[in-house]
Amino acid sequence: MIVRTPPMGFNTWNTFGECYNEEVLREIADAFVDRGFLEAGYNYLIIDDHWVMEHRDPVTKRLIPRPGKFPNGIEPLVDYVHGKGLKFGVYSCVGARTCGQKMGSFEYEFTDAEWFSEIGVDYLKHDFCLRPEKSDGETLYRRMGLALRDSGRDVVYAACNWGMDDVWSWIRSAGAHTFRSTGDISDNFKSFTDIFRSQVPKLGSTASGCFNDLDMITVGMEGEGNVGSSELCSEGVYRIQFCVWCMFGSPLILGCDLRTVSDKYRDLLCNRELIRINQDRECRAAFPIGFDESLVFCRLLEGGDIAVLYINISDGDCDMSFVPYDIGLTEESGYKLCLTDVLNGERFEASDIMFVPVPPHDCRMLRGRLEKK
Ligand code: GLA
Repeated sequence: MIVRTPPMGFNTWNTFGECYNEEVLREIADAFVDRGFLEAGYNYLIIDDHWVMEHRDPVTKRLIPRPGKFPNGIEPLVDYVHGKGLKFGVYSCVGARTCGQKMGSFEYEFTDAEWFSEIGVDYLKHDFCLRPEKSDGETLYRRMGLALRDSGRDVVYAACNWGMDDVWSWIRSAGAHTFRSTGDISDNFKSFTDIFRSQVPKLGSTASGCFNDLDMITVGMEGEGNVGSSELCSEGVYRIQFCVWCMFGSPLILGCDLRTVSDKYRDLLCNRELIRINQDRECRAAFPIGFDESLVFCRLLEGGDIAVLYINISDGDCDMSFVPYDIGLTEESGYKLCLTDVLNGERFEASDIMFVPVPPHDCRMLRGRLEKK
């Protein structure tokens, strides 16, 4: 299966942790459609850890969905999700147990892949906990990759080994379509800035077919939920998070409660122009052109367009700039750079330094192209 642009969807972990059931998930599926997420491009509803029992069926050796959460098995929910025009995702683990101590896929990779295919699974998040000491992570990811390819169904293979073992250097060859490159996110500024800053040297590891996954987005959680935090994110801080995930071409897997997230953050998460940058079909890596407190990233887009993201992580207003030389533009080229703020339409033009005012703890995403002077 070829996955040409970063997958988009929702995952239960950030908000619900262990506490979800079929009814909640049907409501989430409804919210995908009723609140405009599906129309904006989000189409994978993914169940994270805790959905199966601690043992396998003694006869079939298959995983067993938890009867307390899914009294009629998992199939009615899969049908409901598909009936809404969505795709259905589940979670497993390379280990004998998942991170939440439920049954994992170790040594049963082919059994599980076959069953996932049979019940209509479209996406598998494959975690990294509780594997035997002497087992080799790379080999275990290759196993599930092979099993899924052989299962007869198109399944997005989302590897989640938290960036261990130089994952970026081999995971594409194991058949994965996305790979988590860091530890788990929490809903605060430090957590997600640490995550994306750690990936700046690895920006070139993402490309069409297999994308570097910065983890599930916390925008709109506002401190609630399983990875909630007492340090609340401001609107500007959430804007930074979403713009970075778009700019870096990360999968956009939402973690807020789609039923109750405020309209303000729903609108940010569904912003067409930001999503268009994330889903750009050339899938080129972003590159850094600023340092320290003034973070500036640039990305070449299809049709000759260019995106520039200015992030002000300082406590004061900042006129941010970069030298066009750093993106390849010379004074003598005969061209100037013309950019428009994709969120408020403000236009900027320059052939030498372009100053863009950015409020504290906020960012601006500009898009444009070169024009003849
Ligand atoms: C790991 C993963 C998380 C989540 C939990 C579930 O920590 O990195 O994203 O899936 O396991 O237990």
